[in-house]
Amino acid sequence: MSTRTWSWAALVAVLVGATMVLSSCKSSGQVSGKKVTGQALDIDVTTFGKMPDGQEVKLYTLTNAKGATAKITNYGAIVVSLQMPDAKGKMDDIVLGYDDLDGYLKVTPYFGAIVGRYGNRIGGGKFTLDGVTYTLATNDKTNHLHGGNKGFDKVVWDHRMVWKADAVGVELTYLSKDGEEGYPGNLKATVTYLLTNKNELQIDYLATTDKATPVNLTHHGYFNLTGGTRDILGHELMLNADTFTPVDAGLIPTGELQAVAGTPMDFTKASPIGARIEADFEQLKAGGGYDHNWVLNRKGKGLSLAAKVTEPTTGRVMEVWTTEPGIQFYAGNFLDGTITGKAGRVYQHRWGFCLETQHFPDSPNKPSFPSTILRPGEKYETTTIYRFSAK
Ligand code: GLA
Repeated sequence: MSTRTWSWAALVAVLVGATMVLSSCKSSGQVSGKKVTGQALDIDVTTFGKMPDGQEVKLYTLTNAKGATAKITNYGAIVVSLQMPDAKGKMDDIVLGYDDLDGYLKVTPYFGAIVGRYGNRIGGGKFTLDGVTYTLATNDKTNHLHGGNKGFDKVVWDHRMVWKADAVGVELTYLSKDGEEGYPGNLKATVTYLLTNKNELQIDYLATTDKATPVNLTHHGYFNLTGGTRDILGHELMLNADTFTPVDAGLIPTGELQAVAGTPMDFTKASPIGARIEADFEQLKAGGGYDHNWVLNRKGKGLSLAAKVTEPTTGRVMEVWTTEPGIQFYAGNFLDGTITGKAGRVYQHRWGFCLETQHFPDSPNKPSFPSTILRPGEKYETTTIYRFSAK
């Protein structure tokens, strides 16, 4: 890979209308650079580290016109940091993760990554499709979780920068080979992260296959809108969902849809995450707190509001908009103080929460759930937007 440094200022001066020009620069791994100064939108590409086999991994720093930034690496398609303003305009990093690639290589509960080929669980690590039974890697007791032993969060993606009139981004591509982690078919997955001038992190997912296969891609960011200074129990959460998919002791859905009304799963009106998390409610015991899929109230296709989170001390607000039918709300129950993350901060119990837009867990074994099967000739296309503001 070339380590050549481009002078972006010079390039931009020559190439008026950089949007089209740079987005067509198919320079996977070949662009390193320094800041484009004097313009609102900015992309900076540096080396994040090296894989054990010597392969270089990049870090993209996206900056929008408001000065918000997103740092994204092509290892695991991970959002390493996300700086958003509070009500006073103070920028803070509102996602958990590590300072360097080594942290992610050693141990990570999917911090900031794209998970796939199938985000969430497939019961018993098996499913039957068109009369053939497939056996997947089982990495969560007897179940398959987040794509298996080496899911999309642990691979190096091809990458290229994306310039738009009102956003900057990175397009990441990964070819998951036929048989990988037990899945059928060569699956080409493309994930595009865009940081827009409206302080949105937009994620566009695209996939095609040459054999029928289940696909369920999601983003596993751990958010903490305080800037990571305390646990997330005071964040106020609204979930636009009247039902959820109850689970068994192994967190596999039973197949039913259960009404949230009258239970601690009811977030139809905003409520602090910590208000009922320790309630004596069977479903909360299974997950050690919230770790469930909510069935989103939707009207037709297109983007629909799934969740809204308000952090009272900083005024930060995050809305989640998605084309997906479900959302996994995970309250960071497995964080236990054994991980030291960015800037030496220890991630104690429930120090971050995840809102993973998705199809329902174990759909390949649940005929009543919306299908997750992608067939040759079809396109898997979904979009999720995390929109930030402050009040
Ligand atoms: C998902 C799962 C959780 C857990 C976390 C990562 O949210 O549902 O059970 O695996 O990922 O630790």
